[in-house]
Amino acid sequence: MKQVDNSLQKILGEDIPKLKQIKDFTVKGGGKRIRPILLYLLYQLWAKNHPLKSDFKSKDAYDLCAIPEIIHAASLLHDDVLDEAEERRGKPSGRKLFGNKDVILAGDYLLACGISRLNKFRNPDLMDVFTSVIKDLSVSELLQMEYRSNPKINYEIYHKIIYGKTASLFRACCEAPAVWLQQSRTVIDKAGKAGEGLGLVFQLRDDWLDYFKPEELKKEPWQDYINGVITYPVLCLKGQIPEKEYNLLVKDICSQNIEAKKENAEIFVKKLRNFGAEEFTLKKLQTEYHKVQHFFASYPDSPECKLILAQFDKLTLNNPEKKQ
Ligand code: FPP
Ligand code: MG
Repeated sequence: MKQVDNSLQKILGEDIPKLKQIKDFTVKGGGKRIRPILLYLLYQLWAKNHPLKSDFKSKDAYDLCAIPEIIHAASLLHDDVLDEAEERRGKPSGRKLFGNKDVILAGDYLLACGISRLNKFRNPDLMDVFTSVIKDLSVSELLQMEYRSNPKINYEIYHKIIYGKTASLFRACCEAPAVWLQQSRTVIDKAGKAGEGLGLVFQLRDDWLDYFKPEELKKEPWQDYINGVITYPVLCLKGQIPEKEYNLLVKDICSQNIEAKKENAEIFVKKLRNFGAEEFTLKKLQTEYHKVQHFFASYPDSPECKLILAQFDKLTLNNPEKKQ
């Protein structure tokens, strides 16, 4: 990951002091680098046995790993503006430190630096993999805003939103090394589907944490409830509890009275718990994760796939008490 950090330093420009500050904030911001790790492990898996492996330079691989991290970082700078977030990863958010206008423009600048490096791979398919993610991210945020505090949201729309905001980039992290290392279309598609599944699991976990373990997210608690973002822990109750009760929950989360919601958040979470929302969400997480495991298990001798699964086992499943 040190190599990926070096790539980030190299790829991201610092044309003026303000951009240097925001770049430092981005590179040293304490991200887990889960997307570059995923990309790198799959790169290793396919590079090791590649007949032309000497053609693929590890420096390029690290740069490729930096691309999803750059897209992710830019999207978070923008996201904190949309969500009016004060904190991220237990520290003041970018917009809090630099102001909304500066972080929006800096996010665009980061994206442009990433695309410029990507362009140097001279591989249109690789370019497609990542530009479609940027489209998906934007579509998803627009959709999320449209359905914020909107009782018309349903599971299909929620799925579209979490695909765009998280699963699409995970998909790209699994597709990109397969594309770069000239794997067959079948392998590229299967890898992409597995990545999409990992992203879905990752976002479901995030939505679970937001209600049931907010202290782990290191930001102000219960943001989804307070901001009227209706996620799986609420949606899963549709059809499971009396319609009247469900409609009351949705009415509550859609209320615009932010101050009252801040006070009521704990009671709302308690209601969700009593209705079984935590169990439903964890069960959904497990089901989605089981679907993904097949792909990685199809490389039984690969230490890389074992590592990926071990990492996601820890993050997601089996024993909620041991999730950290
Ligand atoms: C976090 O969701 C949000 C994202 C991962 C995507 C944000 C995307 C945009 C703002 C569109 C613009 C995209 C680019 C590439 C500039 P969250 O608010 O549920 O999670 P959080 O708790 O981490 O804030
Ligand atoms: Mg946010």
